Amino acid sequence: MTKVVRVHQVGGPEVLTYEDAEVPAPAQGEVRIRQLAIGLNYIDTYFRTGLYKAPTMPFVVGNEASGEVVAVGPGVTNFHPGDRVAYYYNLGGYAAERNIPADKLVKLPDIITHEQAAVLMLKGLTVYYLLHKTFQVGPGHRILIHAAAGGIGLLACQWAKALGAHVIGTVGSKAKAEMALSNGCDHVILYSEEDFVARVKQISRGELCDVVYDGVGKATFPGSLSCLKPRGLFVSFGNASGPVPPFSLLELNNHGSLFATRPKLNDYVGTRAELISAADTLFTAVINGSLHVPIHHAYALKDAQKAHRDLESRATTGASIFRP
Ligand SMILES: NC(=O)c1ccc[n+]([C@@H]2O[C@H](COP(=O)([O-])OP(=O)(O)OC[C@H]3O[C@@H](n4cnc5c(N)ncnc54)[C@H](OP(=O)(O)O)[C@@H]3O)[C@@H](O)[C@H]2O)c1
Repeated sequence: MTKVVRVHQVGGPEVLTYEDAEVPAPAQGEVRIRQLAIGLNYIDTYFRTGLYKAPTMPFVVGNEASGEVVAVGPGVTNFHPGDRVAYYYNLGGYAAERNIPADKLVKLPDIITHEQAAVLMLKGLTVYYLLHKTFQVGPGHRILIHAAAGGIGLLACQWAKALGAHVIGTVGSKAKAEMALSNGCDHVILYSEEDFVARVKQISRGELCDVVYDGVGKATFPGSLSCLKPRGLFVSFGNASGPVPPFSLLELNNHGSLFATRPKLNDYVGTRAELISAADTLFTAVINGSLHVPIHHAYALKDAQKAHRDLESRATTGASIFRP
């Protein structure tokens, strides 16, 4: 018997139910893990509310975690009990123990803690593909990152700065502004108080940005388009304030022949080879000091409702984890 957080019907944080669950012996190709740290992500709230549809009901929330292998199923030869492993995977994460396909796991370098790994596998890999694949950020690029003091935001600002970009971030409070500035932002805009489009124009002396990374969605659209230079790239990768409403492609023309994309992690880091290569690049960035991964908030798994309330009320900064 183990403990999980399940959703039996979609809704507010109150639908998160901490309860017992059986974990069967791992099936063919599966590994059983004792989880030591579990990532809290905004996507967990989308599944909980039903914005993203879970394939089964009830379902266990959670998409990234780290832990130790305790058993392997038939056919698994590359993992053994005691291995330190981590993953991002579609649901099932809020659990003290679970089974998972072995090909979704990566082994952790000794220097990476379980708590860091529970932040790196979904948030870190997302930042990896956003900055290296969706757009290859490098010296001379001016980029705008919304929610710069969030879980994704703080990692993105650090890594973009290390890649040589000029980084502008938006944040919801003065405390978050300080945090973003000490994590790679060259300029921070308090978008709750200031017109972020006007400030980007001012900061860039009218030259605007090469790319805008927007995980906020509804509240920052269409302002994000106005922050882009001609032929710039709008990367809409999340819906923290609600989804971007449908819009006419002519908007892209009107704002200067813009490009727009709505990417997701699984389309960039979906195959085993992509996972191994991306995790290697990510862990190297941590090991060589380009990326610092502090844990800002740690919750007991039984306090999942509180964790979701904190995240959705913008009370968290940086990365949050659960300790099962
Ligand atoms: N597409 C992908 O592959 C992918 C993968 C992972 C994550 N994501 C997306 O990345 C974004 C960030 O995820 P995260 O887990 O790191 O969360 P987070 O940034 O730690 O939390 C969300 C932040 O969004 C900002 N925000 C602005 N308006 C908001 C509103 N109305 N309600 C709530 N928050 C609001 C808040 O920061 P301020 O107070 O500073 O405004 C809040 O702290 C999410 O949209 C998530 O879905 C996408």
